[in-house]
Amino acid sequence: MKGRTIPKLFFVIWFILFIIILCLSMFSVDEDVPGWEYNISRKLNDYIHNEVETASLIPSDFCDNPSFLVIICISSPQDFEVRQTIRKTWGKEKVVKGHNVSLYFLLGQTTDLDLQKNITEEYLQFRDVVQEQFHDKYNNLTIKSTMMLKLFTWKCQNSSSYLLKIDDDMYLNIPKLINELLTKNQTENLLMGSVICNSKPIRTSKDKWYAGPSYMFPNNTYPTYISGTSYCMSGDVAQKLLKVALATPIFHLEDVYLTGICAKKIGLKLTHNGRFTYHEMKPNYCLYKQLITVHNQDPNSIQKIYNSSHDVEMDKRCQREENMFFVRKWLMENVILVSKNRRRRHCP
Ligand SMILES: *[C@@H]1O[C@H](CO)[C@@H](O)[C@H](O)[C@H]1NC(C)=O
Ligand SMILES: *[C@@H]1O[C@H](CO)[C@@H](O)[C@H](O)[C@H]1NC(C)=O
Ligand SMILES: *[C@@H]1O[C@H](CO)[C@@H](O)[C@H](O)[C@H]1NC(C)=O
Ligand SMILES: *[C@@H]1O[C@H](CO)[C@@H](O)[C@H](O)[C@H]1NC(C)=O
Ligand SMILES: *[C@@H]1O[C@H](CO)[C@@H](O)[C@H](O)[C@H]1NC(C)=O
Ligand SMILES: *[C@@H]1O[C@H](CO)[C@@H](O)[C@H](O)[C@H]1NC(C)=O
Ligand SMILES: *[C@@H]1O[C@H](CO)[C@@H](O)[C@H](O)[C@H]1NC(C)=O
Ligand SMILES: *[C@@H]1O[C@H](CO)[C@@H](O)[C@H](O)[C@H]1NC(C)=O
Repeated sequence: MKGRTIPKLFFVIWFILFIIILCLSMFSVDEDVPGWEYNISRKLNDYIHNEVETASLIPSDFCDNPSFLVIICISSPQDFEVRQTIRKTWGKEKVVKGHNVSLYFLLGQTTDLDLQKNITEEYLQFRDVVQEQFHDKYNNLTIKSTMMLKLFTWKCQNSSSYLLKIDDDMYLNIPKLINELLTKNQTENLLMGSVICNSKPIRTSKDKWYAGPSYMFPNNTYPTYISGTSYCMSGDVAQKLLKVALATPIFHLEDVYLTGICAKKIGLKLTHNGRFTYHEMKPNYCLYKQLITVHNQDPNSIQKIYNSSHDVEMDKRCQREENMFFVRKWLMENVILVSKNRRRRHCP
């Protein structure tokens, strides 16, 4: 009799363990990305409607002027002050080294009627605001960036060579960028910025870059991609990315989605340019002169950087310091090394 109760006991223990494991696995189900729950459509064209024009506000002469470079600045409805600063600083450069530059701000919809009234006034006054048909929320940035590709493909591609995507918390050095593009002279298959390799999806739901449950992104590593703070592409790439995106389920982190998942599908080689920076840096105006983008700038520091870049005294000082060895050393220590310690890594 004793010999038979022991297996029974084992069976009961195993059964209890099995129930506990089952319960644990049910409770540890990953949290959804707000707005991208399992039953929400991730078919891009449900939001983009590529076959029709969707903008609720768009300047009537949008992209009519032939431009070497079209800059689309990703901005939020409430960021009026930031847009004003950009208009007064780096955004006011319309002809650089004889090349036309156009700048537009891309916004989504807001439910705040007072704010909407202000945006309409801003649009009428400056003619550089485009407002597209989707709810302007952080988790909708992929929709925003592909709206940018749609706008460019439909209206700018015949008249412009390059598209630059940039967030509105950035300082942009347009002359340096034009210089780089002219030197590179690559008018096809160019997608350039700060390339990030071997970055892993973040599965902690409170993180800003939370990847979501595996139905959003199943793999353990992101494909190589470009930091979304700013990237530049030749006109053909905008069209190619849009086409493949329309057949790729939305992943809400726009840079991983467009410059990683979609770019990989079309076999595009990403071009790393160390002058695109996307992390915090100590202010150093002589260094900023060497860079194309500087991240995380409030309106006041954008103004300061812009002023110093047009300051003759500062120019002289930088020339005296134009000891490339030290600049390179500084870059190494403060840009490349700093980024190595971050979650999002540069390529080897
Ligand atoms: C998705 O599911 C939630 C709860 O399960 C429900 O409230 C919501 O209406 C559903 N949405 C759609 C678009 O089916
Ligand atoms: C630059 O823009 C002007 C109009 O503002 C236009 O006449 C000119 O052709 C453009 N230049 C180039 C090189 O496209
Ligand atoms: C709209 O603009 C007015 C005047 O510039 C400002 O006082 C107000 O706060 C703005 N409203 C919103 C909702 O931003
Ligand atoms: C994204 O935009 C769509 C279309 O406007 C909207 O239905 C959805 O709620 C938005 N999602 C988020 C996360 O805001
Ligand atoms: C751009 O050029 C293509 C081919 O030349 C033409 O089919 C298309 O209508 C043009 N688009 C615009 C917006 O002018
Ligand atoms: C750019 O490249 C094209 C062809 O690849 C060439 O014809 C042209 O001369 C080049 N321009 C410059 C400025 O190097
Ligand atoms: C996930 O990994 C598989 C196998 O390595 C690869 O074929 C696929 O392209 C990856 N998917 C994405 C979205 O990166
Ligand atoms: C930048 O320069 C303008 C005039 O050139 C001046 O009015 C403004 O106060 C300066 N701003 C900063 C932050 O230095």
